[in-house]
Order: sequence, then structure tokens, then C-alpha cells
Amino acid sequence: MGKVDPAFIQEPEHRPRISYIEGEGFPLIDLSPLHSNNVSAVEGLVKEVGKACKEWGFFQVINHGVPLEKRQKIDSDSRKFFEQSLEEKRKVRRTEKLVLGYYDTEHTKNVRDWKEVFDIAVEEPALIPASPDPDDKEITELYNQWPEYPPELRETCQDYGQEIVKLARKLFELIALSLGLPADRFHSFFKDHNSYIRLNHYPPCPTPELALGVGPHKDGGALTILAQDDVGGLEVKRKDGEWVWVKPTPDAYIVNVGDIIQVWSNDKYESVEHRAMVNSEKERFSVPFFFNPAHYTIIKPLEELTNEQNPAKYRAYNWGKFTASRRRSNFQKLNVENLQISHFRISD
Ligand code: OGA
Ligand code: NI
Repeated sequence: MGKVDPAFIQEPEHRPRISYIEGEGFPLIDLSPLHSNNVSAVEGLVKEVGKACKEWGFFQVINHGVPLEKRQKIDSDSRKFFEQSLEEKRKVRRTEKLVLGYYDTEHTKNVRDWKEVFDIAVEEPALIPASPDPDDKEITELYNQWPEYPPELRETCQDYGQEIVKLARKLFELIALSLGLPADRFHSFFKDHNSYIRLNHYPPCPTPELALGVGPHKDGGALTILAQDDVGGLEVKRKDGEWVWVKPTPDAYIVNVGDIIQVWSNDKYESVEHRAMVNSEKERFSVPFFFNPAHYTIIKPLEELTNEQNPAKYRAYNWGKFTASRRRSNFQKLNVENLQISHFRISD
């Protein structure tokens, strides 16, 4: 990426500290009770998940059931893909119409991210509204773009997608139970889920004190499950406002509550800001999986979780239209804030 283009430079208040705080107390949850029939161990797990969602909005999981070889495979294929020349990678680049594939120009909050990305829809075709305009009923069918190399990337991503979706559904059962709801309460929202896998590559950056791999943001979907490599760089904003570094744990996944859980739970569980630092020596890879409901889903606080004392804090919104609007602002440096759930907040 060469010389630092001013488009990458963060505002002073967003520049990362190079000496960082390590996430003391960052929740690490062992999911092995899910694979047993021990009812009280599962109850304990539900409490742990509820506490982590409330206090951090983030947690790591181990013994999650995703086979290690599937994760290693997607990791090595991702490295193979990004190793290629820019010219090769741009053969599968995303365009305003073909929104899946490769690109290296993403902006978070209108500052360019120090990364390159390859996006893959888990279910094909992925259906999304053609435009954010509420009167435009046109739905676009999206297909993945596959590079020539590595030739097995498609199969690798399909295999990985299946496993990670299973984990996401299990996590939603735990989250539902932790909110006092039936375990399957969220399943119907994900019948035609609109989820995707992203391969992230963060090249070494000559000025890591000025730029970020991903600028501070909250994930707009329901739940994110991130595989990070052993370099590390993810930072999470703790409830006291400090940015803390999430130490890589081999074979663990980092799970976070997205904006949709915040709305469904009527703010009981909040979507938390996070960002990715880069460094001047090592490149870094990560693979987030974004678990999203069907495009036609209307997102609003669940009735079971609201009442007269605790009225709904958000107006209902259409998930597909929300993403369509977000997608537009990811493309270019616009001088307006992109769409946030706070725009649907009912002021009290
Ligand atoms: C993201 C994200 C963090 C990372 O892609 O939404 O937060 O460590 N990534 O790659
Ligand atoms: Ni994120």
C-alpha cells in the first residue's frame, strides 16, 4: 500500500495508543457443556453468556465444535489468495453492483481502513434490496465471485460456512435462554439468513500510530464470530471507556453482540465499539463471520422484553434497507454519518 495516503489518517482522538491495555477479565467461555447432557452445566453456561453479553458485549469461546482443520483451511486459503498480485485480486473485485468479492478501499466512518478484504455470501444467491429507498421494492440476487487461485476456495468457504452457522445458532440459543426466552426464540429470523464471511488481510503499516486496520465501529448485524490469527490487533471498548486489546487465544473464537441484538433486547445487551490496530512489522489475518437475519426482517424490540415500565426504545426498521444504506456509505468518503440504530431510537 506504500506511502500513507491522507485518506487513511485517523482524527487525533481515534489514533491508537501503541502501548496498550490488555483485556484483563475479558470473558473466556468453555462451550463443552453444549456437547454433554449435563443440565446444570448448561445452566451455568447460560449465566456466563448472559453476564458476558451484559458486561462486555464480547467474549471468547473455546470447545466450540468447529473443527480446527476447517479453520486452518480457510486461513491458509486466505493467505494464498492475498499473496497474489493486485492485478490478480482485482479480477474478482467488487463493484457497486457486484458487492461481493475483493476490495481494498473500505472506509469506516469515512476514513480509509488499512486492509484488503474478500467478502463471501454464505447462502447463494444472497437477496438484498436494490436500493435504500423504502418505495423501491426491487430485490437484487447476489452471487459470489471466485478467484482462479486458490481453486479450492469455494469449497473451503462452503465447508467453513456450514460449521460456523451451526455455532452461531447454538450461541443464539444460549443468548435466548439468558434473556429468559425459549431457546429457539430467534431461529425463525435466520431461516433465510443473509450472512457472510469476510477474509481480512491487514498488511504491515509504516505509520501504525496514525491509521487503523478497521476504524472504531459497531457491527450492524446480529452476531459476529471472529477468528483472529496469533498477531492480534483487535481492541474492544470496555464499558469504562478504555480500549483494551484482545489477546489471541489459539483456536478460540471472539463473539460479539451486534446492533440487532441490542434492539431485540431493548438495550439489555449492547453492541460494543471495536477497532483493529495494525503494526509496522507483521501482517495480520482475520476471518469474521457476520450472522444476519433475512433481508425482509423487521427489527424491533421483542415484545416479551418490553412492557409499560420498560417501553420499546427503538422504532421498527427493515434490515435489508438498513444494510443497503450502509453499503452505499462504505463505498466512498461521504461527508455524512452512515446509518446507525441510534437513528431509530425513541427519545425518552
Ligand atoms: C470487522 C472487525 C476486527 C478484526 O471486520 O467488523 O471488527 O480484528 N474486524 O479483524
Ligand atoms: Ni467489527
